[in-house]
Amino acid sequence: MNNKPLLIRGGTVVNADREFAADVLCVAGKIAAIGARALSEAPAGCQTLDASGQYLLPGGIDPHTHMQLPFMGTVTMDDFFTGTAASLAGGTTSIIDFVIPDPQQPLMEAYRTWRGWAEKSAADYGFHVAVTWWGESVHADMGRLVQEEGINSFKHFMAYKNAIMCDDETLVNSFRRALELGAMPTVHAENGELVYLLQQEVARMGITGPEGHPLSRPPMVEGEAANRAIAIADVLGVPIYIVHVSCIESAEAIARARARGQRVYGEVLAGHLLIDDSVYRHPDFATAAAHVMSPPFRPKVHQDFLWRGLQSGQLHTTATDHCTFCARQKAAGLGSFAKIPNGCGGIEERMAVIWDAGVNSGRLTPSEFVAITSSNTARLFNLYPQKGCIAEGADADLVLWDPQGTKTISVKTQHSKGDFNIFEGRTVRGIPSHTLSQGRLVYANGELRATPGVGRYIKRQPFGPDFAAAKTRAQDLAPAAVAR
Ligand code: URP
Ligand code: ZN
Ligand code: ZN
Ligand code: ZN
Repeated sequence: MNNKPLLIRGGTVVNADREFAADVLCVAGKIAAIGARALSEAPAGCQTLDASGQYLLPGGIDPHTHMQLPFMGTVTMDDFFTGTAASLAGGTTSIIDFVIPDPQQPLMEAYRTWRGWAEKSAADYGFHVAVTWWGESVHADMGRLVQEEGINSFKHFMAYKNAIMCDDETLVNSFRRALELGAMPTVHAENGELVYLLQQEVARMGITGPEGHPLSRPPMVEGEAANRAIAIADVLGVPIYIVHVSCIESAEAIARARARGQRVYGEVLAGHLLIDDSVYRHPDFATAAAHVMSPPFRPKVHQDFLWRGLQSGQLHTTATDHCTFCARQKAAGLGSFAKIPNGCGGIEERMAVIWDAGVNSGRLTPSEFVAITSSNTARLFNLYPQKGCIAEGADADLVLWDPQGTKTISVKTQHSKGDFNIFEGRTVRGIPSHTLSQGRLVYANGELRATPGVGRYIKRQPFGPDFAAAKTRAQDLAPAAVAR
């Protein structure tokens, strides 16, 4: 495996706090030196890369992917190799995927299964572990996962009734345990009872096609669950992270809680920023079904609100929820929209579509782009500054970003194994010219050199910065009995 020293010359380094012109030297998978020292310490004859006219960004981190996920009676098209290969082609060098135990399945058993599946990964990866039920063994396994296995976040699905949905008892117990362990609770916020009821009511109206999907999951279904999860977290004094915030109702819930001083974080998907709900009325079933994911794409007014959330710092990270099903798999829902496997792709496109719609429009600065595509995720899940930052000693996960390069996105040229691209036909300006993972050139001007198995499982420490503050706050507010 070629991991020779590499000197990147003449680019503009962009971190979340500032931009500066500098050379960068990568040695043995790490950033060894930046600026004048990079040039003086580069070994004679070392490989060089000309970055003039380009930005050098920390490799993207996608905090929400589902590779090889068994879901709704089938398994996603992309496995950990094909999915991470696509991610490297798009400038994303790390993913955080999900271990999702079946109800009653021991968490440790599911975790071992997912670790096995992920061994073929071409990019670095970690896991959030879903808590899909509650019991003494779950309490114990959460401890082992945090203390021995490098897990520092747990996921809770408030939707998917009769499958992986958590009730409030599980949410409360798991959030409490996460606080004790210094791990971040995260939620998929949709009221699963309402979705279940509405799916039946919409079907009774004779609406069985994909246009029924958004009708069964209106924005307030998401808003209710976001408010409930935030309220539970507030009472327990634990920080909380809401995944795939898709609408005004949940973004406002986050903004209100933050204005009260609560530590609440929101993730936005590239798809929810750019695609509206008209896709569900497409006359072709396969095209409409290809967009079925939860929460659904929303009317345009919500997209503008999500952009404003990122601009104002009320929303923090961007992800894809990459979860690809092909037309044959989606056809399971030909007679009922509720049976269409939920999920869309996007891991290869996330960085470029957000740059194009965010930076080229002046909504985001390049540094803000870095914050929402890598640094904030690295901070929240305690990977910073190993990842999400161009600094000496950090992992040499880098993207050479060509702000003038253009590309028209198409399923015909994507690396993902899915047979559909939700960004089909969109021409973007601002694309990765080169991607480095662990100091190795894995993508260069259209040529992908992904290798199965070279991605590493990245352990994450508990008690990120929020948790010390949460503890101090709890002590500060601790009630005392009245001495009588
Ligand atoms: O529709 C989606 N999002 N599928 C993946 C599972 C989830 O809810 O994240
Ligand atoms: Zn306990
Ligand atoms: Zn979800
Ligand atoms: Zn998901």
